[in-house]
Amino acid sequence: MTDDHRENRRLWNEWSDAFQALWNADTDESGVPPAPTPFDPDGHAATGSAFPPPVAGAAVVELGCGGGQGSVGTALAGADRVVGVDIAEAQLRHARRLRDYYGVDARFLQGDVTDVPLADDAFDAAFSEAAFQLVADLDAAVREARRVLRPGGAFYLSVMHPFRELIDPETGTIGRGYHAPPRREIEIDESYDADLVAFDRSVSELHRALADAGFDVERVVEPEPDGGETTSEGDAAATAEPRALLPDTLGFWARLDAR
Ligand SMILES: C[S@@+](CC[C@H](N)C(=O)[O-])C[C@H]1O[C@@H](n2cnc3c(N)ncnc32)[C@H](O)[C@@H]1O
Repeated sequence: MTDDHRENRRLWNEWSDAFQALWNADTDESGVPPAPTPFDPDGHAATGSAFPPPVAGAAVVELGCGGGQGSVGTALAGADRVVGVDIAEAQLRHARRLRDYYGVDARFLQGDVTDVPLADDAFDAAFSEAAFQLVADLDAAVREARRVLRPGGAFYLSVMHPFRELIDPETGTIGRGYHAPPRREIEIDESYDADLVAFDRSVSELHRALADAGFDVERVVEPEPDGGETTSEGDAAATAEPRALLPDTLGFWARLDAR
Protein backbone atom coordinates (compact mmCIF):
# COMPACT_ATOMS: atom_id res chain seq x y z
CA MET A 1 0.00 0.00 0.00
CA THR A 2 1.36 3.46 -0.89
CA ASP A 3 1.83 6.23 1.69
CA ASP A 4 -1.03 8.17 0.06
CA HIS A 5 -3.37 5.20 0.44
CA ARG A 6 -2.30 4.73 4.06
CA GLU A 7 -3.06 8.42 4.68
CA ASN A 8 -6.50 8.06 3.06
CA ARG A 9 -7.27 4.96 5.11
CA ARG A 10 -6.39 6.85 8.32
CA LEU A 11 -8.49 9.82 7.25
CA TRP A 12 -11.53 7.68 6.41
CA ASN A 13 -11.24 5.77 9.66
CA GLU A 14 -11.25 9.11 11.52
CA TRP A 15 -13.93 10.78 9.40
CA SER A 16 -16.31 7.85 8.88
CA ASP A 17 -18.79 8.49 11.73
CA ALA A 18 -19.16 12.20 10.92
CA PHE A 19 -19.34 11.54 7.17
CA GLN A 20 -22.02 8.88 7.52
CA ALA A 21 -23.99 11.04 9.97
CA LEU A 22 -24.07 13.78 7.33
CA TRP A 23 -25.23 11.29 4.69
CA ASN A 24 -28.05 10.15 6.98
CA ALA A 25 -28.88 13.60 8.42
CA ASP A 26 -32.16 13.94 6.55
CA THR A 27 -33.37 10.56 7.69
CA ASP A 28 -32.31 10.52 11.34
CA GLU A 29 -35.80 11.25 12.61
CA SER A 30 -37.92 8.64 10.94
CA GLY A 31 -36.76 7.77 7.48
CA VAL A 32 -34.85 4.90 6.00
CA PRO A 33 -31.22 5.79 5.16
CA PRO A 34 -30.94 6.17 1.40
CA ALA A 35 -29.28 3.42 -0.63
CA PRO A 36 -29.05 4.66 -4.24
CA THR A 37 -27.52 2.37 -6.85
CA PRO A 38 -26.24 3.15 -10.35
CA PHE A 39 -28.25 0.10 -11.47
CA ASP A 40 -31.59 1.82 -10.77
CA PRO A 41 -33.19 2.31 -14.23
CA ASP A 42 -34.62 5.63 -12.98
CA GLY A 43 -31.62 6.60 -10.88
CA HIS A 44 -28.69 8.98 -11.04
CA ALA A 45 -26.65 6.93 -13.54
CA ALA A 46 -29.51 6.08 -15.91
CA THR A 47 -28.89 7.11 -19.49
CA GLY A 48 -30.95 5.83 -22.40
CA SER A 49 -32.29 2.30 -22.61
CA ALA A 50 -29.02 0.35 -22.55
CA PHE A 51 -27.66 1.75 -19.28
CA PRO A 52 -27.85 0.75 -16.55
CA PRO A 53 -27.76 -2.88 -17.65
CA PRO A 54 -30.21 -5.20 -15.86
CA VAL A 55 -28.79 -6.33 -12.54
CA ALA A 56 -31.31 -8.98 -11.47
CA GLY A 57 -29.50 -12.23 -10.74
CA ALA A 58 -26.06 -10.71 -11.41
CA ALA A 59 -22.90 -10.86 -9.33
CA VAL A 60 -21.76 -7.27 -8.64
CA VAL A 61 -18.73 -5.76 -6.90
CA GLU A 62 -18.45 -2.19 -5.56
CA LEU A 63 -14.91 -0.81 -5.44
CA GLY A 64 -14.51 1.77 -2.65
CA CYS A 65 -17.92 1.04 -1.15
CA GLY A 66 -17.71 3.40 1.84
CA GLY A 67 -20.85 3.10 3.97
CA GLY A 68 -22.28 0.50 1.59
CA GLN A 69 -25.20 2.54 0.25
CA GLY A 70 -24.50 1.56 -3.36
CA SER A 71 -23.93 -2.10 -2.53
CA VAL A 72 -27.07 -2.34 -0.42
CA GLY A 73 -29.06 -0.53 -3.13
CA THR A 74 -27.71 -2.97 -5.71
CA ALA A 75 -28.76 -5.94 -3.56
CA LEU A 76 -32.21 -4.36 -3.19
CA ALA A 77 -32.36 -3.97 -6.98
CA GLY A 78 -32.14 -7.77 -7.28
CA ALA A 79 -28.46 -8.60 -7.71
CA ASP A 80 -27.78 -12.16 -6.69
CA ARG A 81 -24.35 -11.62 -5.10
CA VAL A 82 -22.95 -8.27 -3.97
CA VAL A 83 -19.48 -7.62 -2.57
CA GLY A 84 -18.24 -4.22 -1.39
CA VAL A 85 -14.52 -3.49 -0.97
CA ASP A 86 -13.14 -0.53 0.97
CA ILE A 87 -9.80 0.40 2.46
CA ALA A 88 -11.26 1.76 5.75
CA GLU A 89 -12.61 -0.60 8.41
CA ALA A 90 -14.71 2.18 9.98
CA GLN A 91 -16.53 2.66 6.69
CA LEU A 92 -17.09 -1.09 6.40
CA ARG A 93 -18.68 -1.18 9.86
CA HIS A 94 -21.25 1.35 8.63
CA ALA A 95 -21.76 -0.72 5.48
CA ARG A 96 -22.47 -3.90 7.48
CA ARG A 97 -24.87 -2.00 9.72
CA LEU A 98 -26.77 -0.63 6.69
CA ARG A 99 -26.91 -4.11 5.15
CA ASP A 100 -28.37 -5.54 8.37
CA TYR A 101 -30.79 -2.62 8.62
CA TYR A 102 -32.16 -3.41 5.16
CA GLY A 103 -31.85 -7.17 5.71
CA VAL A 104 -30.18 -7.84 2.37
CA ASP A 105 -27.34 -10.16 1.45
CA ALA A 106 -24.04 -8.37 0.79
CA ARG A 107 -20.47 -9.08 1.82
CA PHE A 108 -18.04 -6.31 2.79
CA LEU A 109 -14.29 -6.80 2.61
CA GLN A 110 -11.32 -4.67 3.58
CA GLY A 111 -9.01 -4.08 0.63
CA ASP A 112 -7.31 -1.60 -1.66
CA VAL A 113 -8.91 -1.07 -5.08
CA THR A 114 -5.45 -1.36 -6.66
CA ASP A 115 -5.08 -4.87 -5.18
CA VAL A 116 -8.59 -6.27 -4.83
CA PRO A 117 -8.81 -9.41 -2.64
CA LEU A 118 -11.15 -11.22 -5.06
CA ALA A 119 -10.74 -13.84 -7.79
CA ASP A 120 -10.44 -13.17 -11.53
CA ASP A 121 -13.59 -13.25 -13.71
CA ALA A 122 -15.91 -13.42 -10.69
CA PHE A 123 -18.46 -10.66 -11.44
CA ASP A 124 -20.96 -9.66 -14.13
CA ALA A 125 -20.76 -5.98 -13.18
CA ALA A 126 -18.58 -3.64 -11.15
CA PHE A 127 -19.00 -0.07 -10.01
CA SER A 128 -17.10 2.60 -8.17
CA GLU A 129 -18.39 6.00 -7.11
CA ALA A 130 -16.33 8.84 -5.60
CA ALA A 131 -13.40 6.55 -4.78
CA PHE A 132 -11.01 6.35 -7.76
CA GLN A 133 -10.11 10.04 -7.37
CA LEU A 134 -8.47 8.97 -4.09
CA VAL A 135 -6.22 6.45 -5.81
CA ALA A 136 -2.63 7.29 -6.75
CA ASP A 137 -2.36 4.73 -9.57
CA LEU A 138 -5.54 5.02 -11.64
CA ASP A 139 -4.39 2.44 -14.19
CA ALA A 140 -3.83 -0.17 -11.49
CA ALA A 141 -7.34 0.40 -10.11
CA VAL A 142 -9.01 0.19 -13.53
CA ARG A 143 -7.01 -2.95 -14.38
CA GLU A 144 -8.28 -4.54 -11.15
CA ALA A 145 -11.86 -3.73 -12.16
CA ARG A 146 -11.22 -5.48 -15.47
CA ARG A 147 -9.56 -8.48 -13.77
CA VAL A 148 -12.49 -9.28 -11.48
CA LEU A 149 -15.07 -8.89 -14.31
CA ARG A 150 -16.14 -11.65 -16.65
CA PRO A 151 -15.93 -11.07 -20.43
CA GLY A 152 -18.83 -8.84 -21.44
CA GLY A 153 -19.00 -7.36 -17.93
CA ALA A 154 -20.18 -3.79 -17.32
CA PHE A 155 -18.33 -1.19 -15.23
CA TYR A 156 -19.74 2.09 -13.95
CA LEU A 157 -16.90 4.39 -12.89
CA SER A 158 -17.80 7.71 -11.37
CA VAL A 159 -15.63 10.36 -9.72
CA MET A 160 -16.17 13.89 -8.44
CA HIS A 161 -16.57 16.01 -11.58
CA PRO A 162 -13.15 17.47 -12.47
CA PHE A 163 -14.67 20.81 -13.59
CA ARG A 164 -16.35 21.28 -10.22
CA GLU A 165 -13.19 20.31 -8.36
CA LEU A 166 -11.36 23.23 -10.05
CA ILE A 167 -13.39 25.74 -8.07
CA ASP A 168 -12.17 26.70 -4.64
CA PRO A 169 -15.20 26.24 -2.34
CA GLU A 170 -14.06 29.12 -0.10
CA THR A 171 -13.59 31.78 -2.79
CA GLY A 172 -15.88 30.46 -5.54
CA THR A 173 -13.12 31.09 -8.08
CA ILE A 174 -11.04 28.70 -10.16
CA GLY A 175 -8.25 27.63 -7.84
CA ARG A 176 -6.14 25.46 -10.13
CA GLY A 177 -5.50 24.65 -13.77
CA TYR A 178 -7.38 21.80 -15.41
CA HIS A 179 -4.11 20.10 -16.39
CA ALA A 180 -2.26 20.92 -13.16
CA PRO A 181 -0.55 17.95 -11.46
CA PRO A 182 -3.48 15.92 -10.08
CA ARG A 183 -2.35 15.32 -6.48
CA ARG A 184 -3.93 17.49 -3.76
CA GLU A 185 -4.04 17.26 0.02
CA ILE A 186 -7.29 18.47 1.53
CA GLU A 187 -7.71 19.17 5.24
CA ILE A 188 -11.09 17.83 6.32
CA ASP A 189 -10.86 18.75 9.99
CA GLU A 190 -7.93 20.23 11.87
CA SER A 191 -8.46 17.79 14.73
CA TYR A 192 -7.84 14.80 12.42
CA ASP A 193 -4.32 13.35 12.18
CA ALA A 194 -4.68 12.68 8.45
CA ASP A 195 -5.64 14.72 5.40
CA LEU A 196 -7.55 13.52 2.35
CA VAL A 197 -5.26 12.86 -0.62
CA ALA A 198 -7.11 13.32 -3.90
CA PHE A 199 -6.07 13.13 -7.56
CA ASP A 200 -8.06 15.37 -9.91
CA ARG A 201 -7.88 13.83 -13.33
CA SER A 202 -9.17 15.22 -16.60
CA VAL A 203 -12.03 13.68 -18.54
CA SER A 204 -9.59 12.51 -21.24
CA GLU A 205 -7.27 10.90 -18.69
CA LEU A 206 -10.13 8.92 -17.12
CA HIS A 207 -11.30 7.84 -20.57
CA ARG A 208 -7.75 6.85 -21.55
CA ALA A 209 -7.35 4.66 -18.45
CA LEU A 210 -10.58 2.81 -19.21
CA ALA A 211 -9.66 2.33 -22.88
CA ASP A 212 -6.10 1.19 -22.09
CA ALA A 213 -7.46 -1.41 -19.66
CA GLY A 214 -9.60 -2.88 -22.44
CA PHE A 215 -12.96 -1.24 -21.71
CA ASP A 216 -15.25 0.22 -24.37
CA VAL A 217 -16.76 3.41 -22.97
CA GLU A 218 -20.38 3.41 -24.09
CA ARG A 219 -21.90 6.34 -22.18
CA VAL A 220 -20.64 9.40 -20.28
CA VAL A 221 -22.91 10.44 -17.42
CA GLU A 222 -23.16 13.91 -15.85
CA PRO A 223 -26.14 13.73 -13.50
CA GLU A 224 -28.13 16.82 -12.63
CA PRO A 225 -27.37 17.24 -8.91
CA ASP A 226 -30.23 17.39 -6.40
CA GLY A 227 -30.89 21.05 -5.74
CA GLY A 228 -28.14 22.03 -8.18
CA GLU A 229 -28.47 24.88 -10.63
CA THR A 230 -26.83 23.33 -13.65
CA THR A 231 -29.71 24.38 -15.90
CA SER A 232 -29.58 28.06 -14.81
CA GLU A 233 -29.02 30.76 -17.41
CA GLY A 234 -28.52 34.53 -17.40
CA ASP A 235 -28.99 36.36 -14.09
CA ALA A 236 -29.84 33.17 -12.24
CA ALA A 237 -26.49 31.69 -13.26
CA ALA A 238 -24.60 34.91 -12.53
CA THR A 239 -25.83 35.00 -8.94
CA ALA A 240 -25.52 31.26 -8.22
CA GLU A 241 -22.70 29.71 -6.24
CA PRO A 242 -20.28 28.69 -9.05
CA ARG A 243 -19.92 25.05 -7.96
CA ALA A 244 -23.71 24.61 -8.04
CA LEU A 245 -23.65 25.39 -11.78
CA LEU A 246 -21.62 22.27 -12.51
CA PRO A 247 -22.44 18.57 -12.15
CA ASP A 248 -21.26 16.90 -8.94
CA THR A 249 -20.03 13.78 -10.62
CA LEU A 250 -18.70 12.44 -13.90
CA GLY A 251 -19.52 8.82 -14.75
CA PHE A 252 -18.63 6.34 -17.47
CA TRP A 253 -20.53 3.21 -18.41
CA ALA A 254 -17.95 0.88 -19.88
CA ARG A 255 -17.98 -2.70 -21.06
CA LEU A 256 -15.49 -5.48 -21.63
CA ASP A 257 -15.51 -7.35 -24.88
CA ALA A 258 -17.72 -10.46 -24.64
CA ARG A 259 -15.05 -12.79 -26.08
C1 LIG B 1 -16.27 9.55 -0.82
S1 LIG B 1 -16.26 7.89 -0.21
C2 LIG B 1 -17.37 7.13 -1.37
C3 LIG B 1 -18.01 5.91 -0.83
C4 LIG B 1 -19.15 5.36 -1.68
N1 LIG B 1 -18.66 4.81 -2.93
C5 LIG B 1 -20.20 6.41 -1.94
O1 LIG B 1 -20.42 6.78 -3.10
O2 LIG B 1 -20.79 6.88 -0.97
C6 LIG B 1 -14.68 7.27 -0.73
C7 LIG B 1 -14.38 5.87 -0.20
O3 LIG B 1 -13.24 5.36 -0.88
C8 LIG B 1 -12.49 4.62 0.05
N2 LIG B 1 -11.13 4.50 -0.46
C9 LIG B 1 -10.21 5.48 -0.60
N3 LIG B 1 -9.08 4.99 -1.14
C10 LIG B 1 -9.30 3.66 -1.34
C11 LIG B 1 -8.50 2.60 -1.85
N4 LIG B 1 -7.25 2.82 -2.29
N5 LIG B 1 -9.02 1.36 -1.90
C12 LIG B 1 -10.29 1.13 -1.45
N6 LIG B 1 -11.09 2.09 -0.96
C13 LIG B 1 -10.61 3.35 -0.91
C14 LIG B 1 -12.61 5.41 1.34
O4 LIG B 1 -12.30 4.64 2.48
C15 LIG B 1 -14.05 5.85 1.29
O5 LIG B 1 -14.90 4.94 1.94
